[in-house]
Amino acid sequence: MAGGLVAGDNLEWMSSLEDASCDLIYVDPPFMSDKVRSGQGRAVFDDRWPDGLSSYLDFLRPRVAQMHRLLSPHGSLYIHLDWRTVHYVKVLLDELFGSGNFLNEIVWAYRTGGRSNRWFARKHDTILLYAKRAGEHTFHVQREGKFRTDGLNYDKDGRPYKNTLEGRLYFHKDGPAVCDVWDIPFLSTVSNERTGYPSQKPEALLERIILASSNPGDVVADFFCGSGTTLVVAQRLGRRFLGCDINEQAVAIARDRLACASQSV
Ligand SMILES: C[S@@+](CC[C@H](N)C(=O)[O-])C[C@H]1O[C@@H](n2cnc3c(N)ncnc32)[C@H](O)[C@@H]1O
Repeated sequence: MAGGLVAGDNLEWMSSLEDASCDLIYVDPPFMSDKVRSGQGRAVFDDRWPDGLSSYLDFLRPRVAQMHRLLSPHGSLYIHLDWRTVHYVKVLLDELFGSGNFLNEIVWAYRTGGRSNRWFARKHDTILLYAKRAGEHTFHVQREGKFRTDGLNYDKDGRPYKNTLEGRLYFHKDGPAVCDVWDIPFLSTVSNERTGYPSQKPEALLERIILASSNPGDVVADFFCGSGTTLVVAQRLGRRFLGCDINEQAVAIARDRLACASQSV
């Protein structure tokens, strides 16, 4: 295993790690859903906050401060949230990182599931992206899909272009650069990726983040790793990884996934 995976409270573990030891941190903490989240019928993690938002922010504050300390100068933090807390956490992170280091509010639009009759159906999560030092951060443009323009021609090498009065205007052969709205499907109930762990995220989401914001050999960390999605994708893409979850069941699932993935390489 090209990394470390620990069962325990992430605050304690992060405090023991050296400054600037992570190149990329992705975290998907509890969302303050006010529920006990269960998977396959068993209670798995408690996302209830008896004192509401203030206790949630008190929990998160020292942890994101540690993440800031742990990021290398070219590192980035992606924090995955939803409508319940994202606006408050944005204010917290602006104070901690400096608002000039805020890079993106990424909308992950998954569109699936039930529809409300009382308001517009809530079908996206928000991922805030901060650089440790904007301008020095690692970033590789990701490309996907087709250009939204008609009348494209292709030259003999398959490169798209349009004819203009000044000659050929070439477009990138791999498609347009990905913007901050991501259409990535939610894991279906029958997906092969499914582990049964609640709130498991799709590998495609982590693949985009890791390819955009790290290089092979970098250290990718997830301190709320759940079923280990970040770690599995980091391993597959040739990155080193650090993972932690307070739930031993989650860590056992993550270990199994990592072992299976390394056997199938
Ligand atoms: C939304 S889930 C993460 C799911 C994960 N992204 C995946 O793909 O499986 C949040 C996780 O945070 C963990 N957690 C909550 N408090 C924690 C703490 N203090 N230290 C470490 N992990 C914690 C929970 O056990 C839960 O597994």
